[in-house]
Amino acid sequence: MGRRRVLLDVDTGVDDGLALMLAIRSPELEVLGITTVSGNVPVARSTANTLLVLEMLGASTIPVVAGAAAPLAREPFTAAEVHGSDGLGGVTQQYPAPSSRAGQGAAEFLLETIRRFPGELTLIATGPLTNVATAIQRDAEAMHRLRGVTVMGGAIRVPGNVGPTTEFNFAVDPEAAAIVLGAGLLLTLVPLDVTEQVILSRQDVDEAGDGGPLQGFIRGMTAATMAFHRDHEGFDGMFLHDPLAVGVIVDPSLVRGQAMAVAIECRGELTAGMAVADLRRRSRTAPTATVCVEVEAARFLHLFTQRVLR
Ligand code: BDR
Ligand code: CA
Repeated sequence: MGRRRVLLDVDTGVDDGLALMLAIRSPELEVLGITTVSGNVPVARSTANTLLVLEMLGASTIPVVAGAAAPLAREPFTAAEVHGSDGLGGVTQQYPAPSSRAGQGAAEFLLETIRRFPGELTLIATGPLTNVATAIQRDAEAMHRLRGVTVMGGAIRVPGNVGPTTEFNFAVDPEAAAIVLGAGLLLTLVPLDVTEQVILSRQDVDEAGDGGPLQGFIRGMTAATMAFHRDHEGFDGMFLHDPLAVGVIVDPSLVRGQAMAVAIECRGELTAGMAVADLRRRSRTAPTATVCVEVEAARFLHLFTQRVLR
């Protein structure tokens, strides 16, 4: 069987960085390109971080294309508190600026690549959905030629992480999330319900040793976010939100999915960006996504540590 061709749309971000590592180190996948968006950090920074991660992996031949600098209809906000002001826990100061360059025009790049490989590509989105929604607005028909779209975002039966009911990626750009959830794509949603069950501990990173340059980079990049979680969440580690979105494509048996009608609240004062799932027993609303509701956390962590930390 051939490798599964994927595109990634990221706001790199510590866990986006780890997701890129898992994707590139997974022989089941062929990464055809990476687009970047504002989210954890402004887009110029998420782009530079993406290029740096690719250099660390020796994968700079993969095209990187920068996208939206701001959400569709709102002012951006970032997550520097969790990811550090550079988005990678301060580690970028220890490395020269990447020598590779990114293109411009993420939505166009997504559409062009999908048109070249109709029915073949899976898009994995791990940031706010601004680029993906823009591509849908420009050419929804082309976007329907994706084999599938996997989105890390939302909180279905658990509390949010930036607001009482809201998860970061959807809260940054609710209008974009609403467009993507409403587009009728073959969508798999990877919400906090499952991503908060996969925790990489500092011990996992320490046990992997400090032998190679990538291990030192990972240790440096994860230290601050792990300290943040130790101080605010009571565990010395971090959630592997975005890597799980890649894991679901590498091995779909890691999760159990449930078809659900999920819509995005765009007007609520307290709830803008909330993923509202119709969980009524006799709901007749048509499903909009397959939502991951259970994960084999230990098996995913094993896969992740074997492929990324060793
Ligand atoms: C999501 O928000 C970002 O901070 C992470 O990179 C992840 O994509 C989790 O809510
Ligand atoms: Ca992210």
